[in-house]
Amino acid sequence: MGHDVVCVDNDELKVAALQGGDTLIFENYLPELLERYRNIKIRFTTDLAEATRNSEAIFIAVGTPQGETGDADLSYVEAVACEIARSITSYKVVVEKSTVPVYTNEWISRTFERNGVSPELFDVVSNPEFLREGTAVSDFLHPDRIVVGANSERAAKVLQTIYRPLTSGEYYSRAASIPGSCSMSEPPPLIVTSTKSAEIIKHASNAFLALKISFINAVSNLCEAADANVQQVALGMGLDRRIGPRFLSPGIGYGGSCFPKDVAAFRSVAEQLGIDFQLLSEIEKINLHQRKRFLKKVRSALWTLREKRIGVLGLAFKGETDDVRDSPATDLVQMLLAEGCTIAAFDPAAMKRAADILPADANLRYADSAYDAARDADALLILTDWKEFSSLDLSKLNKMLRYPIIIDGRNMFDPQVMMKNGFTYLSIGRPTVYPLRDLDATSK
Ligand code: UDX
Repeated sequence: MGHDVVCVDNDELKVAALQGGDTLIFENYLPELLERYRNIKIRFTTDLAEATRNSEAIFIAVGTPQGETGDADLSYVEAVACEIARSITSYKVVVEKSTVPVYTNEWISRTFERNGVSPELFDVVSNPEFLREGTAVSDFLHPDRIVVGANSERAAKVLQTIYRPLTSGEYYSRAASIPGSCSMSEPPPLIVTSTKSAEIIKHASNAFLALKISFINAVSNLCEAADANVQQVALGMGLDRRIGPRFLSPGIGYGGSCFPKDVAAFRSVAEQLGIDFQLLSEIEKINLHQRKRFLKKVRSALWTLREKRIGVLGLAFKGETDDVRDSPATDLVQMLLAEGCTIAAFDPAAMKRAADILPADANLRYADSAYDAARDADALLILTDWKEFSSLDLSKLNKMLRYPIIIDGRNMFDPQVMMKNGFTYLSIGRPTVYPLRDLDATSK
Protein backbone atom coordinates (compact mmCIF):
# COMPACT_ATOMS: atom_id res chain seq x y z
CA MET A 1 0.00 0.00 0.00
CA GLY A 2 3.06 2.24 0.19
CA HIS A 3 3.95 2.15 3.89
CA ASP A 4 7.31 1.29 5.40
CA VAL A 5 6.90 -1.83 7.50
CA VAL A 6 9.18 -3.46 10.03
CA CYS A 7 8.12 -6.89 11.33
CA VAL A 8 9.33 -8.01 14.75
CA ASP A 9 9.40 -11.53 16.16
CA ASN A 10 11.38 -12.99 19.04
CA ASP A 11 11.93 -16.20 17.08
CA GLU A 12 15.31 -15.68 15.43
CA LEU A 13 14.86 -18.59 13.04
CA LYS A 14 11.61 -17.14 11.72
CA VAL A 15 13.13 -13.72 11.27
CA ALA A 16 16.15 -15.17 9.46
CA ALA A 17 13.88 -17.23 7.17
CA LEU A 18 11.79 -14.18 6.30
CA GLN A 19 14.91 -12.08 5.72
CA GLY A 20 15.99 -14.77 3.27
CA GLY A 21 12.67 -14.59 1.41
CA ASP A 22 11.00 -17.71 2.86
CA THR A 23 7.34 -16.94 3.70
CA LEU A 24 7.12 -19.90 6.14
CA ILE A 25 3.42 -20.44 5.50
CA PHE A 26 1.41 -21.55 2.49
CA GLU A 27 -0.34 -18.35 1.44
CA ASN A 28 -1.37 -17.17 -2.00
CA TYR A 29 0.47 -14.02 -3.32
CA LEU A 30 2.76 -13.85 -0.26
CA PRO A 31 5.95 -15.11 -1.98
CA GLU A 32 5.66 -12.62 -4.85
CA LEU A 33 4.84 -9.67 -2.57
CA LEU A 34 7.73 -10.53 -0.27
CA GLU A 35 10.05 -10.76 -3.25
CA ARG A 36 8.84 -7.39 -4.55
CA TYR A 37 9.21 -5.43 -1.30
CA ARG A 38 11.79 -7.28 0.82
CA ASN A 39 14.49 -4.88 2.00
CA ILE A 40 12.72 -2.07 0.11
CA LYS A 41 9.46 -1.39 1.98
CA ILE A 42 9.56 -4.29 4.46
CA ARG A 43 12.25 -5.63 6.75
CA PHE A 44 12.42 -8.17 9.58
CA THR A 45 14.11 -7.90 12.96
CA THR A 46 14.13 -9.21 16.52
CA ASP A 47 14.83 -5.71 17.88
CA LEU A 48 11.47 -4.57 19.23
CA ALA A 49 12.83 -1.42 20.90
CA GLU A 50 14.29 -0.07 17.66
CA ALA A 51 11.14 -0.92 15.71
CA THR A 52 8.97 0.80 18.33
CA ARG A 53 11.05 3.98 18.28
CA ASN A 54 10.85 4.23 14.48
CA SER A 55 7.12 3.54 14.04
CA GLU A 56 4.00 5.68 14.22
CA ALA A 57 1.68 2.70 14.56
CA ILE A 58 2.47 -0.64 16.18
CA PHE A 59 0.28 -3.63 15.31
CA ILE A 60 0.17 -6.41 17.90
CA ALA A 61 -0.48 -9.66 16.06
CA VAL A 62 0.75 -12.31 18.52
CA GLY A 63 -1.13 -15.55 19.19
CA THR A 64 -4.04 -15.77 21.63
CA PRO A 65 -4.27 -19.54 22.20
CA GLN A 66 -7.16 -21.21 23.95
CA GLY A 67 -6.82 -21.49 27.73
CA GLU A 68 -8.01 -24.46 29.76
CA THR A 69 -11.57 -23.20 30.22
CA GLY A 70 -11.99 -21.98 26.66
CA ASP A 71 -10.98 -18.38 27.40
CA ALA A 72 -8.24 -16.73 25.34
CA ASP A 73 -4.76 -16.86 26.87
CA LEU A 74 -3.58 -13.24 26.67
CA SER A 75 -0.12 -13.69 28.16
CA TYR A 76 1.64 -13.08 24.83
CA VAL A 77 -0.33 -9.84 24.35
CA GLU A 78 0.61 -8.71 27.85
CA ALA A 79 4.30 -9.63 27.41
CA VAL A 80 4.61 -7.71 24.17
CA ALA A 81 2.68 -4.72 25.59
CA CYS A 82 5.17 -4.50 28.47
CA GLU A 83 8.08 -4.62 26.05
CA ILE A 84 6.62 -1.93 23.79
CA ALA A 85 5.88 0.25 26.83
CA ARG A 86 9.56 0.23 27.83
CA SER A 87 10.60 1.72 24.48
CA ILE A 88 8.04 4.50 23.98
CA THR A 89 9.48 8.00 23.84
CA SER A 90 6.99 9.71 21.49
CA TYR A 91 3.27 9.35 20.60
CA LYS A 92 2.35 5.89 19.23
CA VAL A 93 -0.87 4.25 18.16
CA VAL A 94 -0.89 0.69 19.43
CA VAL A 95 -3.22 -1.47 17.36
CA GLU A 96 -4.56 -4.78 18.61
CA LYS A 97 -4.87 -7.07 15.62
CA SER A 98 -4.91 -10.37 17.50
CA THR A 99 -8.38 -11.76 18.19
CA VAL A 100 -9.01 -10.74 21.76
CA PRO A 101 -11.95 -10.57 24.17
CA VAL A 102 -13.71 -7.32 24.96
CA TYR A 103 -11.80 -5.30 27.60
CA THR A 104 -8.35 -6.32 26.27
CA ASN A 105 -7.91 -2.80 24.99
CA GLU A 106 -8.35 -1.43 28.49
CA TRP A 107 -5.88 -3.95 29.87
CA ILE A 108 -3.24 -2.93 27.33
CA SER A 109 -3.72 0.74 28.29
CA ARG A 110 -3.41 -0.17 31.98
CA THR A 111 -0.24 -2.17 31.27
CA PHE A 112 1.30 0.84 29.51
CA GLU A 113 0.46 3.14 32.41
CA ARG A 114 1.80 0.63 34.96
CA ASN A 115 5.05 0.60 33.02
CA GLY A 116 5.31 4.34 33.39
CA VAL A 117 4.08 5.52 29.96
CA SER A 118 2.22 8.80 30.18
CA PRO A 119 -1.36 8.64 28.70
CA GLU A 120 -0.54 11.43 26.20
CA LEU A 121 2.11 9.22 24.61
CA PHE A 122 -0.18 6.49 23.31
CA ASP A 123 -3.64 5.37 22.23
CA VAL A 124 -4.77 1.76 21.93
CA VAL A 125 -6.96 0.92 18.96
CA SER A 126 -8.76 -2.30 18.04
CA ASN A 127 -8.53 -3.19 14.35
CA PRO A 128 -9.75 -6.79 13.96
CA GLU A 129 -8.79 -8.83 10.91
CA PHE A 130 -11.19 -11.03 8.99
CA LEU A 131 -8.64 -12.94 6.94
CA ARG A 132 -9.09 -16.53 5.85
CA GLU A 133 -6.07 -18.78 5.60
CA GLY A 134 -4.95 -19.31 2.02
CA THR A 135 -6.64 -16.13 0.78
CA ALA A 136 -5.36 -13.81 3.52
CA VAL A 137 -3.60 -11.40 1.12
CA SER A 138 -6.67 -10.84 -1.10
CA ASP A 139 -8.93 -10.69 1.98
CA PHE A 140 -6.71 -7.98 3.45
CA LEU A 141 -6.51 -5.88 0.29
CA HIS A 142 -10.13 -6.47 -0.74
CA PRO A 143 -12.01 -6.46 2.57
CA ASP A 144 -15.81 -6.38 2.92
CA ARG A 145 -15.21 -3.75 5.60
CA ILE A 146 -12.44 -2.28 7.73
CA VAL A 147 -13.30 -1.89 11.41
CA VAL A 148 -11.45 0.65 13.53
CA GLY A 149 -12.32 0.67 17.22
CA ALA A 150 -10.89 3.87 18.64
CA ASN A 151 -11.85 6.00 21.60
CA SER A 152 -9.62 8.86 20.42
CA GLU A 153 -10.04 10.91 17.25
CA ARG A 154 -6.30 11.33 16.88
CA ALA A 155 -5.76 7.55 16.82
CA ALA A 156 -8.73 6.96 14.47
CA LYS A 157 -7.15 9.45 12.03
CA VAL A 158 -3.85 7.54 12.00
CA LEU A 159 -5.69 4.33 11.09
CA GLN A 160 -7.77 6.12 8.45
CA THR A 161 -4.52 7.36 6.90
CA ILE A 162 -2.98 3.89 6.93
CA TYR A 163 -5.99 2.43 5.10
CA ARG A 164 -6.57 5.41 2.77
CA PRO A 165 -5.02 3.73 -0.31
CA LEU A 166 -7.80 1.13 0.00
CA THR A 167 -10.73 3.30 1.13
CA SER A 168 -10.04 5.96 -1.54
CA GLY A 169 -9.84 3.24 -4.21
CA GLU A 170 -6.40 4.51 -5.29
CA TYR A 171 -4.69 1.15 -4.60
CA TYR A 172 -6.96 -0.62 -7.10
CA SER A 173 -5.90 1.67 -9.95
CA ARG A 174 -2.24 0.64 -9.59
CA ALA A 175 -0.76 -1.61 -12.24
CA ALA A 176 0.71 -4.06 -9.73
CA SER A 177 -2.30 -4.29 -7.40
CA ILE A 178 -3.49 -7.71 -6.27
CA PRO A 179 -6.81 -8.54 -7.97
CA GLY A 180 -10.01 -9.05 -5.98
CA SER A 181 -13.56 -7.88 -5.39
CA CYS A 182 -12.87 -4.19 -4.55
CA SER A 183 -12.19 -1.62 -7.26
CA MET A 184 -11.55 2.07 -7.81
CA SER A 185 -15.33 2.61 -8.10
CA GLU A 186 -16.21 0.22 -5.27
CA PRO A 187 -13.65 0.67 -2.50
CA PRO A 188 -14.20 -0.92 0.91
CA PRO A 189 -15.96 1.02 3.69
CA LEU A 190 -14.15 1.84 6.94
CA ILE A 191 -16.25 2.13 10.07
CA VAL A 192 -15.11 3.74 13.29
CA THR A 193 -16.58 2.24 16.46
CA SER A 194 -15.73 2.21 20.14
CA THR A 195 -12.87 -0.14 21.05
CA LYS A 196 -15.22 -2.52 22.87
CA SER A 197 -17.63 -2.71 19.92
CA ALA A 198 -14.74 -3.55 17.58
CA GLU A 199 -13.57 -6.33 19.89
CA ILE A 200 -17.09 -7.78 19.95
CA ILE A 201 -17.50 -7.40 16.15
CA LYS A 202 -14.62 -9.81 15.65
CA HIS A 203 -15.86 -12.51 18.02
CA ALA A 204 -19.49 -12.11 16.99
CA SER A 205 -18.62 -12.36 13.27
CA ASN A 206 -16.64 -15.58 13.67
CA ALA A 207 -19.28 -17.08 15.97
CA PHE A 208 -22.00 -16.19 13.46
CA LEU A 209 -20.12 -17.87 10.60
CA ALA A 210 -19.60 -20.95 12.77
CA LEU A 211 -23.33 -20.84 13.55
CA LYS A 212 -24.14 -20.88 9.83
CA ILE A 213 -21.98 -23.98 9.35
CA SER A 214 -23.43 -25.80 12.38
CA PHE A 215 -26.95 -24.84 11.30
CA ILE A 216 -26.55 -26.33 7.82
CA ASN A 217 -24.87 -29.40 9.32
CA ALA A 218 -27.89 -29.93 11.59
CA VAL A 219 -30.19 -29.40 8.59
CA SER A 220 -28.12 -31.95 6.61
CA ASN A 221 -28.76 -34.54 9.31
CA LEU A 222 -32.46 -33.78 9.07
CA CYS A 223 -32.28 -34.14 5.28
CA GLU A 224 -30.66 -37.56 5.67
CA ALA A 225 -33.45 -38.67 8.00
CA ALA A 226 -36.14 -37.32 5.64
CA ASP A 227 -34.44 -38.54 2.43
CA ALA A 228 -34.16 -34.95 1.15
CA ASN A 229 -31.14 -33.26 -0.42
CA VAL A 230 -29.30 -30.62 1.63
CA GLN A 231 -27.67 -29.15 -1.48
CA GLN A 232 -31.10 -28.20 -2.82
CA VAL A 233 -32.14 -26.94 0.61
CA ALA A 234 -29.01 -24.76 0.95
CA LEU A 235 -29.53 -23.36 -2.54
CA GLY A 236 -33.14 -22.49 -1.76
CA MET A 237 -32.19 -20.89 1.54
CA GLY A 238 -29.13 -19.04 0.27
CA LEU A 239 -30.97 -17.26 -2.52
CA ASP A 240 -32.78 -15.29 0.18
CA ARG A 241 -30.50 -12.26 0.32
CA ARG A 242 -31.04 -11.99 4.06
CA ILE A 243 -29.45 -15.43 4.47
CA GLY A 244 -26.90 -15.50 1.62
CA PRO A 245 -25.35 -18.60 0.02
CA ARG A 246 -21.91 -18.55 1.66
CA PHE A 247 -20.89 -20.74 4.61
CA LEU A 248 -23.84 -23.04 3.99
CA SER A 249 -21.76 -26.03 2.87
CA PRO A 250 -22.35 -29.03 5.13
CA GLY A 251 -19.50 -31.37 5.94
CA ILE A 252 -17.58 -32.93 8.79
CA GLY A 253 -17.63 -29.68 10.75
CA TYR A 254 -15.46 -26.60 10.96
CA GLY A 255 -11.88 -26.67 12.23
CA GLY A 256 -8.74 -24.57 12.00
CA SER A 257 -7.01 -22.15 14.29
CA CYS A 258 -9.89 -19.66 14.53
CA PHE A 259 -13.49 -20.88 14.69
CA PRO A 260 -13.10 -23.53 17.44
CA LYS A 261 -10.97 -21.20 19.58
CA ASP A 262 -13.00 -18.06 18.95
CA VAL A 263 -16.41 -19.63 19.63
CA ALA A 264 -15.03 -21.02 22.92
CA ALA A 265 -13.50 -17.63 23.81
CA PHE A 266 -16.75 -15.79 23.03
CA ARG A 267 -18.67 -18.29 25.18
CA SER A 268 -16.20 -17.66 27.98
CA VAL A 269 -16.57 -13.85 27.59
CA ALA A 270 -20.38 -14.22 27.80
CA GLU A 271 -20.05 -16.35 30.94
CA GLN A 272 -17.74 -13.83 32.58
CA LEU A 273 -20.20 -11.03 31.80
CA GLY A 274 -23.07 -13.07 33.25
CA ILE A 275 -24.83 -13.52 29.91
CA ASP A 276 -26.68 -16.75 29.15
CA PHE A 277 -25.55 -17.48 25.56
CA GLN A 278 -26.33 -21.21 25.29
CA LEU A 279 -26.47 -20.96 21.52
CA LEU A 280 -22.66 -20.82 21.45
CA SER A 281 -22.42 -24.17 23.25
CA GLU A 282 -24.91 -25.66 20.79
CA ILE A 283 -22.75 -24.51 17.84
CA GLU A 284 -19.79 -26.36 19.37
CA LYS A 285 -21.86 -29.43 20.22
CA ILE A 286 -23.24 -29.81 16.68
CA ASN A 287 -19.75 -29.30 15.27
CA LEU A 288 -18.13 -32.10 17.26
CA HIS A 289 -21.11 -34.38 16.75
CA GLN A 290 -20.68 -34.03 12.98
CA ARG A 291 -17.33 -35.88 13.11
CA LYS A 292 -18.82 -38.75 15.11
CA ARG A 293 -21.74 -38.95 12.68
CA PHE A 294 -19.30 -39.28 9.81
CA LEU A 295 -17.56 -42.16 11.57
CA LYS A 296 -20.97 -43.84 11.87
CA LYS A 297 -21.50 -43.32 8.16
CA VAL A 298 -18.20 -45.07 7.43
CA ARG A 299 -19.30 -47.93 9.66
CA SER A 300 -22.69 -48.10 7.93
CA ALA A 301 -20.91 -48.55 4.59
CA LEU A 302 -18.27 -51.05 5.73
CA TRP A 303 -20.14 -52.94 8.45
CA THR A 304 -17.13 -53.53 10.74
CA LEU A 305 -14.04 -51.35 10.86
CA ARG A 306 -11.35 -53.54 12.43
CA GLU A 307 -8.56 -54.25 9.92
CA LYS A 308 -10.32 -52.42 7.12
CA ARG A 309 -8.03 -50.62 4.66
CA ILE A 310 -9.13 -47.03 4.27
CA GLY A 311 -7.86 -44.46 1.79
CA VAL A 312 -8.08 -40.86 3.02
CA LEU A 313 -8.03 -37.77 0.79
CA GLY A 314 -7.30 -34.58 2.71
CA LEU A 315 -5.76 -33.85 6.10
CA ALA A 316 -5.79 -30.03 6.24
CA PHE A 317 -8.69 -28.34 8.08
CA LYS A 318 -9.87 -26.97 4.71
CA GLY A 319 -8.67 -27.04 1.11
CA GLU A 320 -5.82 -24.94 -0.30
CA THR A 321 -3.90 -24.78 3.00
CA ASP A 322 -1.26 -26.89 4.75
CA ASP A 323 -2.69 -26.13 8.20
CA VAL A 324 -3.81 -29.10 10.29
CA ARG A 325 -4.57 -27.25 13.53
CA ASP A 326 -7.86 -28.55 14.93
CA SER A 327 -8.49 -30.33 11.65
CA PRO A 328 -11.62 -32.52 11.59
CA ALA A 329 -9.73 -34.65 9.02
CA THR A 330 -6.80 -35.58 11.28
CA ASP A 331 -9.24 -36.09 14.14
CA LEU A 332 -11.17 -38.59 12.04
CA VAL A 333 -7.96 -40.37 11.02
CA GLN A 334 -7.19 -40.77 14.72
CA MET A 335 -10.69 -42.14 15.39
CA LEU A 336 -10.37 -44.63 12.52
CA LEU A 337 -6.95 -45.79 13.74
CA ALA A 338 -8.45 -46.30 17.20
CA GLU A 339 -11.11 -48.50 15.57
CA GLY A 340 -8.34 -50.71 14.15
CA CYS A 341 -8.34 -49.48 10.53
CA THR A 342 -5.24 -49.29 8.36
CA ILE A 343 -4.96 -45.95 6.59
CA ALA A 344 -3.25 -44.59 3.50
CA ALA A 345 -3.65 -40.80 3.52
CA PHE A 346 -2.92 -38.18 0.90
CA ASP A 347 -3.01 -34.39 1.10
CA PRO A 348 -1.53 -32.08 -1.56
CA ALA A 349 0.19 -29.83 1.04
CA ALA A 350 -0.49 -30.87 4.64
CA MET A 351 1.19 -34.29 4.96
CA LYS A 352 4.38 -32.91 6.49
CA ARG A 353 2.48 -31.06 9.21
CA ALA A 354 0.09 -33.98 9.70
CA ALA A 355 3.05 -36.34 10.24
CA ASP A 356 4.11 -34.20 13.25
CA ILE A 357 0.90 -35.11 15.07
CA LEU A 358 0.24 -38.46 13.38
CA PRO A 359 3.58 -40.12 12.60
CA ALA A 360 3.54 -42.86 9.96
CA ASP A 361 3.56 -46.38 11.38
CA ALA A 362 2.38 -49.89 10.53
CA ASN A 363 -1.23 -48.68 10.39
CA LEU A 364 -0.77 -45.23 8.83
CA ARG A 365 0.97 -44.57 5.53
CA TYR A 366 1.32 -41.23 3.72
CA ALA A 367 0.58 -41.84 0.06
CA ASP A 368 2.28 -40.35 -3.02
CA SER A 369 -0.96 -39.38 -4.74
CA ALA A 370 -4.73 -39.62 -4.41
CA TYR A 371 -4.66 -42.77 -6.56
CA ASP A 372 -1.96 -44.28 -4.36
CA ALA A 373 -4.15 -43.64 -1.28
CA ALA A 374 -7.01 -45.45 -3.01
CA ARG A 375 -4.89 -48.49 -3.93
CA ASP A 376 -6.58 -51.72 -2.68
CA ALA A 377 -8.64 -49.78 -0.13
CA ASP A 378 -11.99 -51.05 1.12
CA ALA A 379 -13.28 -47.47 0.85
CA LEU A 380 -12.00 -43.99 0.06
CA LEU A 381 -12.87 -41.06 2.35
CA ILE A 382 -12.78 -37.41 1.29
CA LEU A 383 -12.08 -35.27 4.35
CA THR A 384 -10.79 -31.96 2.93
CA ASP A 385 -12.22 -29.90 0.06
CA TRP A 386 -9.09 -29.51 -2.06
CA LYS A 387 -10.14 -28.20 -5.48
CA GLU A 388 -7.85 -30.67 -7.22
CA PHE A 389 -9.82 -33.64 -5.82
CA SER A 390 -12.83 -32.69 -7.91
CA SER A 391 -10.88 -33.31 -11.14
CA LEU A 392 -9.65 -36.81 -10.25
CA ASP A 393 -10.01 -39.45 -12.94
CA LEU A 394 -12.97 -41.40 -11.58
CA SER A 395 -12.52 -44.54 -13.64
CA LYS A 396 -8.86 -44.74 -12.60
CA LEU A 397 -9.89 -44.25 -8.97
CA ASN A 398 -12.51 -46.96 -9.32
CA LYS A 399 -9.93 -49.42 -10.64
CA MET A 400 -7.49 -48.65 -7.80
CA LEU A 401 -10.02 -49.38 -5.06
CA ARG A 402 -10.66 -52.87 -3.77
CA TYR A 403 -14.34 -51.95 -3.42
CA PRO A 404 -15.62 -48.87 -5.26
CA ILE A 405 -16.97 -47.11 -2.19
CA ILE A 406 -16.44 -43.37 -1.62
CA ILE A 407 -17.59 -41.63 1.53
CA ASP A 408 -17.39 -37.92 0.91
CA GLY A 409 -17.33 -35.64 3.96
CA ARG A 410 -17.23 -32.50 1.78
CA ASN A 411 -19.85 -33.17 -0.93
CA MET A 412 -17.31 -32.69 -3.72
CA PHE A 413 -19.02 -34.85 -6.32
CA ASP A 414 -22.38 -35.07 -8.06
CA PRO A 415 -24.03 -38.30 -6.84
CA GLN A 416 -25.41 -39.05 -10.33
CA VAL A 417 -21.92 -38.88 -11.85
CA MET A 418 -20.60 -41.18 -9.11
CA MET A 419 -23.40 -43.63 -9.74
CA LYS A 420 -22.61 -43.69 -13.48
CA ASN A 421 -18.94 -44.27 -12.68
CA GLY A 422 -19.77 -47.37 -10.71
CA PHE A 423 -19.38 -46.11 -7.17
CA THR A 424 -21.34 -46.62 -4.01
CA TYR A 425 -21.26 -42.99 -2.93
CA LEU A 426 -22.20 -41.67 0.49
CA SER A 427 -22.12 -37.93 1.13
CA ILE A 428 -23.49 -35.42 3.65
CA GLY A 429 -27.24 -34.73 3.68
CA ARG A 430 -27.83 -36.29 0.27
CA PRO A 431 -29.25 -39.71 -0.62
CA THR A 432 -26.67 -42.48 -1.02
CA VAL A 433 -26.28 -43.78 -4.57
CA TYR A 434 -25.18 -47.23 -5.72
CA PRO A 435 -23.43 -48.33 -8.92
CA LEU A 436 -25.80 -48.28 -11.89
CA ARG A 437 -25.09 -51.88 -12.76
CA ASP A 438 -25.93 -53.00 -9.21
CA LEU A 439 -29.69 -53.14 -9.74
CA ASP A 440 -30.42 -54.85 -6.44
CA ALA A 441 -28.68 -52.10 -4.51
CA THR A 442 -30.24 -49.17 -6.43
CA SER A 443 -33.71 -50.39 -5.62
CA LYS A 444 -32.92 -50.48 -1.88
C1 UDX B 1 -11.95 -18.02 9.48
C2 UDX B 1 -12.83 -16.82 9.09
O1 UDX B 1 -13.49 -17.08 7.84
C3 UDX B 1 -12.03 -15.54 9.01
O2 UDX B 1 -12.88 -14.43 8.77
C4 UDX B 1 -11.29 -15.34 10.35
O3 UDX B 1 -10.47 -14.19 10.28
C5 UDX B 1 -10.44 -16.56 10.68
O4 UDX B 1 -11.27 -17.72 10.69
P1 UDX B 1 -10.27 -19.70 8.26
O5 UDX B 1 -10.08 -20.35 9.60
O6 UDX B 1 -9.09 -19.45 7.41
O7 UDX B 1 -11.03 -18.28 8.44
O8 UDX B 1 -11.23 -20.66 7.42
P2 UDX B 1 -12.69 -20.63 6.76
O9 UDX B 1 -12.53 -20.59 5.30
O10 UDX B 1 -13.58 -19.63 7.36
O11 UDX B 1 -13.20 -22.10 7.17
C6 UDX B 1 -13.25 -22.51 8.54
C7 UDX B 1 -13.74 -23.93 8.66
O12 UDX B 1 -15.12 -24.03 8.33
C8 UDX B 1 -13.02 -24.94 7.74
O13 UDX B 1 -12.80 -26.15 8.47
C9 UDX B 1 -14.00 -25.16 6.61
O14 UDX B 1 -13.86 -26.41 5.99
C10 UDX B 1 -15.33 -25.04 7.36
N1 UDX B 1 -16.46 -24.63 6.51
C11 UDX B 1 -16.49 -23.39 5.93
C12 UDX B 1 -17.55 -25.49 6.35
O15 UDX B 1 -17.56 -26.61 6.90
N2 UDX B 1 -18.62 -25.06 5.60
C13 UDX B 1 -18.66 -23.85 5.01
O16 UDX B 1 -19.68 -23.55 4.35
C14 UDX B 1 -17.57 -22.97 5.17
